[in-house]
Amino acid sequence: MSSPAELMSKLRPEASREPESGIISIFNYGRDREGIIPLWVGQGDTPTPRFIYESAVRSMEAGETFYTYQRGIPELRLALADYHARLYARSFDPENFFVTGSGMQAMQTVIQAVAGKGDEVVLASPAWTNYPAPLRLAGVQPREVPLSFANGRWNMDLDRMFDAVNARTRAMVMNTPSNPLGINMSADDILAVRDFCRKRGLWLIADEVYARFNFGVGNGPGNLPPSFLDICDEEEQFLMVNTFSKNWAMTGWRIGWAIAPKAIGQTLENIIQYNTSGVAQFMQRASVTALEEGEEFLTAQVEQARAGRDIVCNALRQVPGVQFQEPEGAFYLFFSVEGCTDAVELSRRMIDEIAVGVAPGPAFGPGGDGFMRLCFARSADSLEEAMNRLVPWLSKR
Ligand SMILES: Cc1ncc(COP(=O)(O)O)c(C=O)c1O
Repeated sequence: MSSPAELMSKLRPEASREPESGIISIFNYGRDREGIIPLWVGQGDTPTPRFIYESAVRSMEAGETFYTYQRGIPELRLALADYHARLYARSFDPENFFVTGSGMQAMQTVIQAVAGKGDEVVLASPAWTNYPAPLRLAGVQPREVPLSFANGRWNMDLDRMFDAVNARTRAMVMNTPSNPLGINMSADDILAVRDFCRKRGLWLIADEVYARFNFGVGNGPGNLPPSFLDICDEEEQFLMVNTFSKNWAMTGWRIGWAIAPKAIGQTLENIIQYNTSGVAQFMQRASVTALEEGEEFLTAQVEQARAGRDIVCNALRQVPGVQFQEPEGAFYLFFSVEGCTDAVELSRRMIDEIAVGVAPGPAFGPGGDGFMRLCFARSADSLEEAMNRLVPWLSKR
């Protein structure tokens, strides 16, 4: 029998070196605490609505429990094209859509398609934890470019991001609205990134999973912030990842989608085949229902998040030494705590002393030191209670 250390030493270094996600680590630390108000992970407190899950039940009752299309059932790919056409007021082709087992897996699929050992991918930091980790697992070097935070505002210095591109760079990953920052990229910045990627022959990977959670005045029927879909062509080096998780309260289902050029469709299908062999048909049926009948539910979710944002911003503005940029989109508040040198320790104390769970900023990369991320996609009552605990605690910390 081998020792645990020997077994670990036999793993690929890329796998054994990769640490636990900083979000999951704090979640595991506090998940069973009595009375905990969980604001650490990116989800609300509303379960998937009945009209969506009943569609999955009907599908299972009809015996749709067999292997199915690797790229996704035709009905779902058509529903995705129609949904995008409604939101972006232009036509989309179902052939550009690929159903994946979550947004996370959409990201993993596109990474596997475009970058491998020795390659580099440029992204901003702080960013969602689950970009750099799957890159490193694939042997790709993430180049995280820290954004600067000054006078209560985040500043994305595109020139710094462009300077991080070198001969090994294969792609840039752009996330708008941003998790964890809640900021939207401007139309000018989106255009500049697209033009730069075109000029340098890079893949542009856009993650707009929070596009519907936009609190400003947006474009078109979806009230959307500026989007890469406004100016990118599906047949260029452009890939987009998305998910059913956030819009329709389906985080536990694990289903998402990618948009990609038709020309690489067979390759993406192969990657899906060799990773998971596709998504359960009954989940796909429920996802069609979400797209076709889920607007009213989604509007209510966005309104709840907008109210949640106001509750947490108004409360934390009163705390001396706390700074943040008011979120324009997504459902996170990323705030700095003056003098905080160890955000992990602070978030553990918050759990131990007041039973409020937030994610420590360093989980989101080198730009996150001294910050905490709080998810406000919850009922007003629960957020008010969280703020009643947090504001006095932070004030006298
Ligand atoms: C920016 C961003 N992209 C993608 C995802 C993927 O979501 P899922 O894997 O639940 O589909 C998340 C989830 O938190 C996210 O925050």
